[in-house]
Amino acid sequence: MATAELAGKHLVLGMTGGIACYKIAELTRLLTKAGATVQVVMTEAATQFITPVTMQALSGRPVYTSQWDARVPNNMAHIDLSREADAIVIAPASTDFLAKLAHGMADDLLSTLCVARDCPLLVVPAMNRQMWQNPATQRNVTQLRADGIEVLGPDSGPQACGEVGDGRMLEAAATYEAIASFFSPKILSGRRVLLTAGPTFEPLDPVRGITNRSSGKMGFALARAAQQAGAEVHLIAGPVALETPWGVFRQDVQTAQQMHDAVMHSVADADIFIGVAAVADWRVDHASEHKIKKTAERTLPTFTFVENPDILASVARLPHPPFAVGFAAESGDLEVHGEEKRARKNVPLLIGNLGPLTFGLDDNEVILFEAGGATKLPRADKQTLARALIVEIARRLPDPSLIR
Ligand code: CTP
Repeated sequence: MATAELAGKHLVLGMTGGIACYKIAELTRLLTKAGATVQVVMTEAATQFITPVTMQALSGRPVYTSQWDARVPNNMAHIDLSREADAIVIAPASTDFLAKLAHGMADDLLSTLCVARDCPLLVVPAMNRQMWQNPATQRNVTQLRADGIEVLGPDSGPQACGEVGDGRMLEAAATYEAIASFFSPKILSGRRVLLTAGPTFEPLDPVRGITNRSSGKMGFALARAAQQAGAEVHLIAGPVALETPWGVFRQDVQTAQQMHDAVMHSVADADIFIGVAAVADWRVDHASEHKIKKTAERTLPTFTFVENPDILASVARLPHPPFAVGFAAESGDLEVHGEEKRARKNVPLLIGNLGPLTFGLDDNEVILFEAGGATKLPRADKQTLARALIVEIARRLPDPSLIR
């Protein structure tokens, strides 16, 4: 998990009553681990679901529940607690609290803090699906958005009451991602990014196939960084065991041909294409429909290969290509092969992995190849590197009015 976006941030974490309070213990841990300071403020109802003692232990700061708390020297908790805050996050935000916020009510410490704030306010709703769908709640949420309040979620799925639908709070990790995303500079705002990531899988028969060691981590880290930079992100992924980054549209494929077709179907809408996938160069011509069996004579199977389409080169060949970025994994002589590959694929930017064995690892070191020369970026974890690469890509984009 990335930490840079939230390091040094001061957040007031306001908890209102709801069973989702249990998720806030984990959220607090994630936020403090990322280097944020977290000042927890709880409504009376929230203390019925989780104790202030738990929240104090996790946040490392005293928890406030009352407007009349004598620990605040000037007795103005409603002003003092948010004075240094970079944001107030209300999680979980109950139906009642959303209604209070929409109407500017201030009858307890947390609601008064929100009305008296001078910083952004983010709310993470959590409620039963009927409460969420209620026209009054929907009216209130529309009003909150119109007032410039960020509404994160809600999620859809099974609820504590046993029903299924919209209204449940985002999981702690997704809430963390949404908060981190809020703080990232929006350098790709209004841009649409199409990415490929992971390996492909080329079947030999219904149970066997050829794949490679790509984990998809770099592609997923880039998708996440692009989303956080304000882009609309479409991620086309081969078979990987990774969670979809928050706010990213993901499409799963297996083979290089499927990945090619999916890219070609969506590329017309993209401003930027980043080919991070380790695409198989060849596939077996006519994969067997049935499992290939051993024969009595022990004859070994033979396969004929045909070439897969080159997705990156196909994108670059379009009459009006998006800004196309390639990746290259080489087992040697990157400096020589990198620029040669960039020129061959006819892309403005190609990112070369320094060191052959970065598959599956969390760290990476890369060189940027472009017409003007090569630039090395410092070794970093893949998420930090992804953020740096998004900055490099954004810097090289043509003026939006000239891009297509
Ligand atoms: N790529 C692609 N479609 C392919 C092969 C590669 O889109 N069929 C893309 C990769 O996603 C990557 C770039 O091309 O962005 C370079 O991939 P790489 O495997 O390093 O290059 P190849 O063209 O396959 O060259 P070689 O295997 O000979 O090094």
